Amino acid sequence: MSTPLTGPWWKHAVCYQIYVRSFADADGDGVGDLPGITARLPYLSDLGVDAIWITPFYTSPQHDHGYDVADYCDVDPLFGTLTDFDALLGRAHELGLRVIVDLVPNHTSSAHPWFQAALAAAPGSPERARYLFRDGMGENGEEPPNNWKSIFGGQAWTRVEDGQWYLHLFDTTQPDLDWTHPEVPAMFEDVLRFWLDRGVDGFRIDVAHGMYKAPGLPDADYSAPHPVGPLDQDDPSMVDLPSKDEPMWDQPEVHNLYRRWHQILASYDGDRMGVAEAWTATPEAMAHYVRPDELQQTFNFHWLSAPWSAAAFAEVITGTLDAVGSVGASATWVLSNHDVIRHVTRYGGGARGQARGRAALLAMLALPGSAYIYQGEELGLEQVAVPPELRRDPRSLVTGLVGRDGCRIPLPWGGEQPPYEFGPTAGQPWLPQPEAWAALSVAAQKGVAGSTLEFYREALAVRRTFAETAGDEVEMLDLGADVLAFRRGDLVCLLNCGATAVEVPEGEVLLCSGDVPGASDTTTWLRSPH
Ligand code: GLC
Repeated sequence: MSTPLTGPWWKHAVCYQIYVRSFADADGDGVGDLPGITARLPYLSDLGVDAIWITPFYTSPQHDHGYDVADYCDVDPLFGTLTDFDALLGRAHELGLRVIVDLVPNHTSSAHPWFQAALAAAPGSPERARYLFRDGMGENGEEPPNNWKSIFGGQAWTRVEDGQWYLHLFDTTQPDLDWTHPEVPAMFEDVLRFWLDRGVDGFRIDVAHGMYKAPGLPDADYSAPHPVGPLDQDDPSMVDLPSKDEPMWDQPEVHNLYRRWHQILASYDGDRMGVAEAWTATPEAMAHYVRPDELQQTFNFHWLSAPWSAAAFAEVITGTLDAVGSVGASATWVLSNHDVIRHVTRYGGGARGQARGRAALLAMLALPGSAYIYQGEELGLEQVAVPPELRRDPRSLVTGLVGRDGCRIPLPWGGEQPPYEFGPTAGQPWLPQPEAWAALSVAAQKGVAGSTLEFYREALAVRRTFAETAGDEVEMLDLGADVLAFRRGDLVCLLNCGATAVEVPEGEVLLCSGDVPGASDTTTWLRSPH
């Protein structure tokens, strides 16, 4: 059983992201579900995480695998029932695990009753006012109202039968809500309370920098440089940090919403929290989401998008700590999620990718704040090449690009062939698993010294010995241009990003991500009192 940390639990927590479709399938339909998660919770508490975040399991036509919600207060039959959710929550709490659920407020599904009513009503009607319906440009309104593009490809507007257009920053089946309409925030307050009353510990807020759009919906300047990470050069993963001043993202009004939600969270016992999925241009803009009267955490995508470079990692660390420190918040760190290429693959794949993946994990776990890990990274899973005819990501279906399926393959739990005990039914699950995954399954790695799974377990256990006591101060150390080195209390962490080994300072080696402390692509943790 995990030992709960003291203080607000989220401040130093390690949170494990569960992509519900691909974690564990109890009913044998090839898609993961809530009872599947409940049955595997002991695995997560043994692993040593403090919390889980579950991606959307609400009623949904599944065009964007649950990020298109038709009923925010019910469970999709694909994933189970509300009773299954209560059972999951109860078991997680028994095991000392906190539970964060995903809230999708920027858009609903086009199957949501509000959007269905909007389609059935006339232009200018109150039903349409909850979404962003507009007349088109051009002589007969045949041009979209502005030049905005959808994140999933193509224009962000779709025309309905009577000639009006509606905005969707994502898929056509995900119409954006108009958050200036009072019924919209009122509905989401009810949704927050519905899940808080059931006992959830927090919310991951999807597209948390969305919701409010610049007044008048002005054209965007797509010629402005986007500070993209290295991840999207040949693949359309969503690491496309916005440039400053984009009219659809990061508008000041969104912060009043989080001030309101802060009050709602605070009105419940037990340190309930919100973590923002806000892709911001800079760490400073990121920190606005975690001002004292707003949300508790925000994902730090600047860490995830940094290239393999000691200088780049150091810059993100100091930039992040300065930014969150300036508002009195704590940091978060993340390497992978269900939207980006798995980090072992990003770091070159194969033996080198694995070595760098372990090294990056230890660097992240040494830092003050909270860390998020994504299901399957504890098994060393790599991005999978899904053939075009089997792709299911709407982004891929619209653009024909590779899309995000490759990081969403169902987990291998044991056995020699697919579905590797992902579910009880023989054969491939909803996305096919590679042949080579038998050796990577939980059963194949459990108890095996040197396996990625045992490495993660050990790293989390050792982290627990200093996470709360090493303090929030990080002092950068100069061990050469290729080495990221810092001290945090008695802990010294050094990540050698260079090609040659470096000498390790004096101290007791607590953990090393490779065989030899100080070696290339290796992180070493030392206990080294001042
Ligand atoms: C977020 C989710 C992503 C989803 C999108 C639209 O970025 O992480 O998976 O497609 O929002 O809801």
